[in-house]
Amino acid sequence: MIELLGLGKTYQSKHGSFEALKDINLRIDDGDIYGIIGVSGAGKSTLVRCINLLERPTVGQVLIDGIDVTNYQGRQLLDLRSRIGMIFQDFNLFAQRTVLSNVLFPLEVRHDARSEALKQAHNLLKLVGLDGMEKRYPAQLSGGQQQRVSIARALANRPAYLLCDEATSALDSLTTASILALLREINRTLGVTIVIITHAMSVVEAACNKVAVIDGSRIVETGEVASVFAAPTAQITRQLLGLETVAAVEPIDAGETIAAVEPINAVEPINAGEPIGTPATQAPREAVDGDV
Ligand SMILES: Nc1ncnc2c1ncn2[C@@H]1O[C@H](COP(=O)(O)OP(=O)(O)O)[C@@H](O)[C@H]1O
Ligand SMILES: [Mg+2]
Repeated sequence: MIELLGLGKTYQSKHGSFEALKDINLRIDDGDIYGIIGVSGAGKSTLVRCINLLERPTVGQVLIDGIDVTNYQGRQLLDLRSRIGMIFQDFNLFAQRTVLSNVLFPLEVRHDARSEALKQAHNLLKLVGLDGMEKRYPAQLSGGQQQRVSIARALANRPAYLLCDEATSALDSLTTASILALLREINRTLGVTIVIITHAMSVVEAACNKVAVIDGSRIVETGEVASVFAAPTAQITRQLLGLETVAAVEPIDAGETIAAVEPINAVEPINAGEPIGTPATQAPREAVDGDV
């Protein structure tokens, strides 16, 4: 279980200070695929980086399995990070290493026996559907395949948690669907608790059971995906769902009248009680080896 209690993060720069997170309270239970959604600059990456202490919160606490880890340093911090895998939008693979060697890297750092490490790396590559691609280099793979390598590498330490920061944002929609299906499979078969950071409601709908909506450094809404989709309460949630239009332009001059602007996101409002699409829990499982 991951708990964030009264968490805040203020960045200091030469331009002054900026509160990127304000009073964040969030609980992610074991087994969840928890979506955190918001527009660019909302504070999503800061939030997820506070979970594994890549960023230190300015105030508040991070609890992992009930233990306050906020001030972990040195060995304790390394151990914690090995229990929390992370993947990114741009994959972050080592370009000079083969697929196999990328997955072996965390096992080498841990000084695992070579034969055990090789066995583990091959098993992981099989799990992510990259059997037979061990000798390729990242540049010889599609985006979806590269993200599969980074997932295998993130799982090498057998983490209890996997943090995904915009992991599908650089991928087309079909590849996104196959990566999300793989993440669901990993959650189901390995019991890994997954946190998915995204700006796309379609990602939350396809993969998550719970969601937190973050806007202007604060969490404005949390809940089961099906209930938040059926009855969103925050304005930003309705906008992200396409149920409410976003002002297309700022007034140029306070005194000046500007022509009426066409809504950029014109959609029919849906029935308040009617869920959108198939709830994540009932979504059909896509093939995981579909993308090439
Ligand atoms: N290291 C930093 N120093 C100063 N400001 C930062 C730093 N990192 C992020 N920010 C600011 O904090 C806000 C939230 O950033 P981020 O968490 O990356 O948002 P998101 O991932 O939702 O796009 C942004 O306004 C960003 O400019
Ligand atoms: Mg971000």
